[in-house]
Amino acid sequence: MPPIEVKKDVYWVGAIDWNIRDFHGYSTYKGTTYNAFLVLDEKITLFDTVKKPFRSDLLHNIRRIIDPAKIDYVVVNHVEMDHSGCLPEIFDVIKPEKIFCSAKGKEALLEHYHADGWPYEPVENGQVISLGKRTVQFLETRMLHWPDSMFSYLPEDRLLLSSDAFGQHWATSERFDDQVDQPELFWHATKYYANILLLYSPLVEKLLANVQKMGLPIDMVAPDHGLIWRSHPEKILKAYGAWSRQQTKQKALVIYDTMWKSTETMAKAITDGLMQEGVEVKMMDLQVNHRSDIMTEALDAKAFVFGSPTLNNQMLPRMADMLNYLKGLRPRNRLGAAFGSYGWSGDGVKQISQELEAMKMKVLHPGLSIKYVPTHEGLRECLALGNRIGRAIRDGG
Ligand code: FEO
Repeated sequence: MPPIEVKKDVYWVGAIDWNIRDFHGYSTYKGTTYNAFLVLDEKITLFDTVKKPFRSDLLHNIRRIIDPAKIDYVVVNHVEMDHSGCLPEIFDVIKPEKIFCSAKGKEALLEHYHADGWPYEPVENGQVISLGKRTVQFLETRMLHWPDSMFSYLPEDRLLLSSDAFGQHWATSERFDDQVDQPELFWHATKYYANILLLYSPLVEKLLANVQKMGLPIDMVAPDHGLIWRSHPEKILKAYGAWSRQQTKQKALVIYDTMWKSTETMAKAITDGLMQEGVEVKMMDLQVNHRSDIMTEALDAKAFVFGSPTLNNQMLPRMADMLNYLKGLRPRNRLGAAFGSYGWSGDGVKQISQELEAMKMKVLHPGLSIKYVPTHEGLRECLALGNRIGRAIRDGG
């Protein structure tokens, strides 16, 4: 992919990773991009780099514009190796005069690459540097996504280089939001938030309030992954506002795994009960839905109903994986309940209920267990559980 001028003298020089399918546990069915930006000014500056195997893509793109040796500054907005991984590889080609990063960024760069001799230039929150005709203001965005993360704001260009925030894992030949299908773009942005940033929602909320207070005019938001928000920056900022407040709708997910279909039969009856109450509901079998797609649906779901039979006195492994993943992402203000078929111990349902308590969910049932295969009467109980959860959702929890 050739470089693209995104603003006058500001070029996208990143790489497209069409083939990545797993991003530390997140299913990237449609790949991703590693966005890096080259700014031509009196001080030629490269903002972020790319993942190590994409070193040549980055250098080819830079060479189409200038000799990489002419780069004066490198800004490391984020040290995670999808953005800094090829820095050691290109350092000798670029030989930058300065590497700007946060104080935590300097620590993390040293801890990753052990390069004591690099010209680190740690910057503080709000610090402004000049590149010549334009300036760069650094905004500390700790934990979005790592302790070192920061944004670079270019006021003369009204451009926010937002590192991981506002990104999407989606490999496309297009570079701008208005060139792609909008529902798909927002689906990828939703998935990204749900799987990467949800647990940092309180920090996102604070950051958005600060940005609003600072009154920064922004007409382009360029994240380090996916499409650049050129036509709809306000839409993604608004979406982040809702997501960071963990706003939910009248929606439930019935998430289950099953051995001999008894738990699935229960899941269907619970789903029927929820539908009878007029709430949106999705049945999500862990055998066919990836945890990160379930997480995407979980972002705006008010209630989660988890079902698993018991295997070797435990819930099924896929359910343990799902709950572990969900717990780490810290959904708040949700309703929960557990169900499942069992043969003798029935510990699986009890274990799920304990996990829901640990996640601070409002647990609406001590756990609905049915021995072996549900009878018609048992399924009526499941229907009633669905009704009860549906009413609780409609009543606002
Ligand atoms: Fe895209 Fe936190 O790295």
